[in-house]
Amino acid sequence: MKETSVIVVSGTPGTGKTRFARLLARKLGINYVSLTWFAMQHDLMKCYDHKRRTYVIDELGLTRELRRYLVTLKGQVLVEGHYSGRLVPKRFTGIVFVLRCDPDILKTRLKRRGYSDEKVRENVEAEVLDICLSEAIATQGSEKVTEIDTSAKPVQNCVEEALQILGGKKLKQIGRYDWLTELERKGRLDKFLTEQTVAWRRRSS
Ligand SMILES: Nc1ncnc2c1ncn2[C@@H]1O[C@H](COP(=O)(O)OP(=O)(O)O)[C@@H](O)[C@H]1O
Ligand SMILES: [Mg+2]
Repeated sequence: MKETSVIVVSGTPGTGKTRFARLLARKLGINYVSLTWFAMQHDLMKCYDHKRRTYVIDELGLTRELRRYLVTLKGQVLVEGHYSGRLVPKRFTGIVFVLRCDPDILKTRLKRRGYSDEKVRENVEAEVLDICLSEAIATQGSEKVTEIDTSAKPVQNCVEEALQILGGKKLKQIGRYDWLTELERKGRLDKFLTEQTVAWRRRSS
């Protein structure tokens, strides 16, 4: 019988994971699991962080329940969530798509979603610093990870790119998006770093 193979979809909030994952799962005819939904189903939301307006997830519990769930499955499944790159156990992972988005476009998407300035800044910072990509590489190994930029092409094209990679028609790629260098090129790196430092001081005071 075929072993479980997980297609992991990670990325900073707002990069387009949910839309991408739903369409990709539908095209492949496989099940789709949102880690936020999975955590809620297993009562793994530890508490609500009122300041950051977000739930804090019991990550150890989530990894344990995820392992239990994946062991019982056979065949492919898609798991989506911004911490999926580091929480899906490596032995189940077939491939990890880390979705990327230009910081300015991400900012617009998150503002449109009604996020507070603080939350927008935190997420843009995480994107600029490649947090999801680094976590995915550290947990899953660089050979399983590939990036897809969702900034300038519709979700259908992003999914088409993923299908080409899965079908071996396109190579996986990492390190293609360097938002820090991009900010420096536009002469905005100093401003960005100053804003982050001020926000960081405010958060830790
Ligand atoms: N490829 C894309 N091009 C343009 N906008 C997109 C794309 N993918 C997602 N979006 C938009 O970005 C926002 C966040 O998408 P969503 O799938 O909810 O992201 P996530 O699950 O990573 O938080 C939504 O408003 C969505 O319509
Ligand atoms: Mg989502």
